[in-house]
Amino acid sequence: MEHFQIEGGTLLEGEISVNGAKNSALKIIASTVLTNETCRIENIPAIADVLVLLDILKEMGAEVKLIDRHTYEITCAGISEPNLPELLVRKLRASVVLLGPLLARFGEVKMPHPGGCVIGERPIDIFLDGFAALGVSVKEEETHYHFHSNKLTGATFVFPRVSVTATEALLMAATLAEGTTTLKFAACEPEIEDLAEWLNARGAKIRGAGTHTIIIEGVKTITGGEKRIMPDRIETGTFAMLGAAIGRKIVITNCEPSHLEVPWKLLRQVGVRFELGRDVVTVHQSPHLQAVNLVTHEYPGFITDLQAPYTVLMTQAKGLSLIHETIYEGRLFYIDKLNKMGARIIMCDPHRAVVLGPAKLYGATVESPDIRAGIALVIAALLAEGTSRIENIYQVDRGYEAIDDRLRQLGAKIERMKES
Ligand code: EPZ
Repeated sequence: MEHFQIEGGTLLEGEISVNGAKNSALKIIASTVLTNETCRIENIPAIADVLVLLDILKEMGAEVKLIDRHTYEITCAGISEPNLPELLVRKLRASVVLLGPLLARFGEVKMPHPGGCVIGERPIDIFLDGFAALGVSVKEEETHYHFHSNKLTGATFVFPRVSVTATEALLMAATLAEGTTTLKFAACEPEIEDLAEWLNARGAKIRGAGTHTIIIEGVKTITGGEKRIMPDRIETGTFAMLGAAIGRKIVITNCEPSHLEVPWKLLRQVGVRFELGRDVVTVHQSPHLQAVNLVTHEYPGFITDLQAPYTVLMTQAKGLSLIHETIYEGRLFYIDKLNKMGARIIMCDPHRAVVLGPAKLYGATVESPDIRAGIALVIAALLAEGTSRIENIYQVDRGYEAIDDRLRQLGAKIERMKES
């Protein structure tokens, strides 16, 4: 196992380029199953989660050709066995999004229970209800779900709560269903709008993506095509908070600032000094930070994936701030690790914590519980006085490509160490 060794206290400076968005790439790649034609996809982040999804497609018989580190050509004509491989599905819960395109193409899928993860139980009840509405029969066996449908038929489905991947899975299933599907209280994330635009460019008939009501007129087939993955808004926001916490001046390039309007509003209230450009954000040293409460919310609200880095920022802000994580029940499991580094945070319940700042942080040995908490601990270690050891960095690598190399470019004293 590898770990990061980080020497904190150095002000960071320089330019960092944002990669393609993990949570867009996984669905764009899944959508290649909807056609027999070749899809060429660029700006794919070279991270573990994406590589696992590509392995799943290969395992099922797709042709996956590496063009360069961030570009693949994928042809799913050869998929014969639409059964999701257990070991790989366990490594990537998001592979559940493949259910939609596989059902649309093959009408039958066997999928092992995707299981939960550290941030929450991660149920799939909305997926099951949604597919049943489209005419899919679902049998829950001991270790698998068995989905079967002679023909997907359009329907109206009302989401009981907003679900990003359930929206994307049903959107893709409805693309090839017979008749019209209306999704109500659908998720509005920019990645969903982007997915729908690409599907429409390939012959789909989708209206309303990016709003809570999406209408899909089923078509017989869609074509292949070319696609460049959109910038990762989570990386953009994470690097902005890094700059606010320990930057002298950080220029974040190749990003889409318009996807983060609520986080920018909050960071302005906190007193972070930054300018927004068309595809660039410049963050200046921000010595006077004020504590401001946070409530995470589905898009266009403050994205839950930036909650942990924001909490680290609040440890340096003056005053009390309430961190309210409304989406997941297990996304505050890093608070004890920050307190071990000298933060003063009280856990009120699995969804709420109160931060008292500013607090001086000191280097410590801590373990990354999940992707976003992992990068938050890296930011905390860069802030802290002394040396930190961040373990379980596979979690960080799942979401942030070559993050140690990129941070070193900014002057960070971070080394990737083989387990000693
Ligand atoms: C997506 O997860 C993202 N993952 C998550 O990012 C992100 O945090 C989340 O959306 C919220 O924005 C990908 O896109 C691959 P949800 P998703 O379904 O779609 C509950 C990261 O770090 N729910 O919108 O799985 C669920 O438990 C990851 O990159 C049900 O109850 O999230 C959660 O409490 C983490 N039943 C809430 O809905 C269901 O059938 C929202 O989850 C499905 C979800």
